[in-house]
Amino acid sequence: MIKTRITELFGIKHPIMLAGMNWVTEPNIVSAVCNAGALGVFATAHCTPEETRKNIQEIRKLTDKPFGVNVMLNLPTAPGNVEAILDEKVPIVNYALGKPAFIDKVHAYGGKVIGTIAKAKHAAMAEKLGVDAMSITGHEAAAHGMEATSMILIPIVTRWSKVPLIAAGGFYDGSGLAAALSLGADAVSMGTRFMLTKESPVHENLKKFCLDATEEDSVYSDVFDGLPSRVMRNKASLKLLKGGFPLFSSFTSALQMKKLLKLSTWEMVRTSLGMMKAEEKRNLLDQARFANMVILAEKAIYKGDVENGIIIAGQSCGGIKDKELPTCKEVIENTVAQAESIMKRLGTQVY
Ligand SMILES: Cc1cc2nc3c(=O)[nH]c(=O)nc-3n(C[C@H](O)[C@H](O)[C@H](O)COP(=O)(O)O)c2cc1C
Repeated sequence: MIKTRITELFGIKHPIMLAGMNWVTEPNIVSAVCNAGALGVFATAHCTPEETRKNIQEIRKLTDKPFGVNVMLNLPTAPGNVEAILDEKVPIVNYALGKPAFIDKVHAYGGKVIGTIAKAKHAAMAEKLGVDAMSITGHEAAAHGMEATSMILIPIVTRWSKVPLIAAGGFYDGSGLAAALSLGADAVSMGTRFMLTKESPVHENLKKFCLDATEEDSVYSDVFDGLPSRVMRNKASLKLLKGGFPLFSSFTSALQMKKLLKLSTWEMVRTSLGMMKAEEKRNLLDQARFANMVILAEKAIYKGDVENGIIIAGQSCGGIKDKELPTCKEVIENTVAQAESIMKRLGTQVY
């Protein structure tokens, strides 16, 4: 067993987190991870507040272990989803892409907050705001990593950070866990790895696409959703890279998002304007572009359209080569066992 500040803080057995992934980390996979002793995180980006509430209640029926809920603060539904999370007293709240105004409220009911961070200066700000832990995300990651790789970013933050860190971006096995602990982190968060498991609800076409990919088959740009992000190279991502900002499809996607999230036109405009004020350098076009990514990702994840949909996955696809997909429990136990054996071997090399 590996005991760290993160296993102690959250009361979990293993220093592993299932990264919150929109459309992917549904109650079934979240509870499978929690029941196997790691931290499962439900992602709310496609949910109305009412759906978020229902999913939280569903998770509670499937596990009695601590679990987390991820909220992207740049989305129009974020305020309602945060309210649902607070009402439900979710044990661990994980926010990304914005500045949280709810940390005290989570602490008031005994919950903990994890900030997702991809820049050292944002980590310093999050720590000042009072987060309990940070998921530090490197360039290798699926979706929103920034320029610095995990190898560089994690030790920079561990040098001064007082809160436990969760290393994210490119971690998929025991050697990654051992490396993360060596870099000063207290756990790993894995997205792509858990997306490629038996319990993962993503379409078989997408699983096969990722298993066949190499470490060089992803692309990184801000053209996909207005923020620097990593997706797999396919027809849809190459079209966006070539054509630049997809004005028409972004606005049709924004309308689809409005329908999906059951927002009135006024709510959509009001929250978008509010978010633009809260976030530096964001405009309405960026909001529309973000909506486009959410809709195109669903096309690949649930409909299995791996050519016209956007496949969000990280460089770790190149290292995940299972002939038969493991269960989440197998991923967790194999990762810990491999890390333990690496750390024991390294210990024998010290004189
Ligand atoms: C399909 C998919 C959807 C994602 N959705 C979210 C999300 O809703 N919120 C979030 O904070 N991060 C999201 N991410 C990023 C992950 O939380 C995590 O940072 C990333 O997967 C870590 O890198 P790795 O894939 O190399 O493990 C998503 C990643 C994937 C693969």
